[in-house]
Amino acid sequence: MSTQALLKQLYDTPEEDILKNIQQLKSELGEQVLILGHHYQREEVFAFADISGDSLKLSQQAADADAPNIIFCGVHFMAETADILTDDNQSVFLPDLAAGCSMADMANDAQVSKCWQELSSIINPDTCVTPVTYINSTAALKAFCGEHGGIVCTSSNAQKVLEWSWNNREKILFFPDQHLGENTALAMGIAEKDMIIWDPFQPLGGNTPEAIEHATLILWKGFCSVHQLFKAEHAATMRENHPDIQILAHPECAREVCETADFIGSTEAIIKHVQAAEKDSKFAIATELNLVNRLRIQYPDKPIWFLSPMVCMCSTMFRTDPQHLYATLLAIRDGKKDNQIIVPKHQKRWAKLSLERMLNLV
Ligand code: 13P
Ligand code: SF4
Repeated sequence: MSTQALLKQLYDTPEEDILKNIQQLKSELGEQVLILGHHYQREEVFAFADISGDSLKLSQQAADADAPNIIFCGVHFMAETADILTDDNQSVFLPDLAAGCSMADMANDAQVSKCWQELSSIINPDTCVTPVTYINSTAALKAFCGEHGGIVCTSSNAQKVLEWSWNNREKILFFPDQHLGENTALAMGIAEKDMIIWDPFQPLGGNTPEAIEHATLILWKGFCSVHQLFKAEHAATMRENHPDIQILAHPECAREVCETADFIGSTEAIIKHVQAAEKDSKFAIATELNLVNRLRIQYPDKPIWFLSPMVCMCSTMFRTDPQHLYATLLAIRDGKKDNQIIVPKHQKRWAKLSLERMLNLV
């Protein structure tokens, strides 16, 4: 039966049966399968994760995993990262191949190579620019960084990575998320005048040669479509209504939102912050809805609000549903390689180097 036909059949099956079947098949497969789940996964899927975490923790867990099959309940770049960091005899599966990341799509290999070439007309990037890619990027860009003396970062270690990068070369080209780069640099005391934005659709990224010569941080004009929905006005309204509230923001939020926040951190850091807080602490959180709803349920004694009045949900994370998870488990049981993520060998070597440079720092 084709995957499409199987999924159709699964959608006609009551969901409670699918959940029972997942549980049973997962137990049967035992140590043959490890399920990694990102904090943004919907509850029905998240419940089956052997290990949950943010991008950094999940990449470390993938690197340490022994299981021959890893199912990544997350998005495409996360499964690619796991494939890069695991051995050749391990297979990584993404339950729905359409689970991408709109931010990762905002910088591709051709655009970054063109940027590097354009920079070469003004400075020598190979000696004075460290390329830094946020882990939310394709394997090709991680490979680009590996090959050009660069490194990967996540939202948990961006500051350490920027320090390492400036210790090596005087400038950084940071892609694809402008906000993570900008918020991290501002927190490190880097002046606004030393940063420029690189718009890949403009000659020289929309900058003058003098601005490029002067800048120490070149920020790619990319963003997360979910986190851009949080606004500074939402924080102001929240503070007006609840003067003792703490605002927690993911660093993918815009600068104006992060500037109003009491705490900025990765998904894992936000969870730990809420966990450690005293009873009756009030929070408004600016990150994906599934995570915020889970925290509300886990900590009923700590009132939690979602910062935006709009629904900010990562629709691609949401694509992984119990039906896709079950179809993947069935494929593994039957020795099929449906939905396996394989990073080409030539990219793997360099991408691994840029990831290992990061993992050695944390
Ligand atoms: P974390 O590394 O904080 O889990 O973030 C991943 C992500 O995609 C946030 O949008
Ligand atoms: Fe990508 Fe944003 Fe979804 Fe994170 S929340 S996976 S950055 S689209």
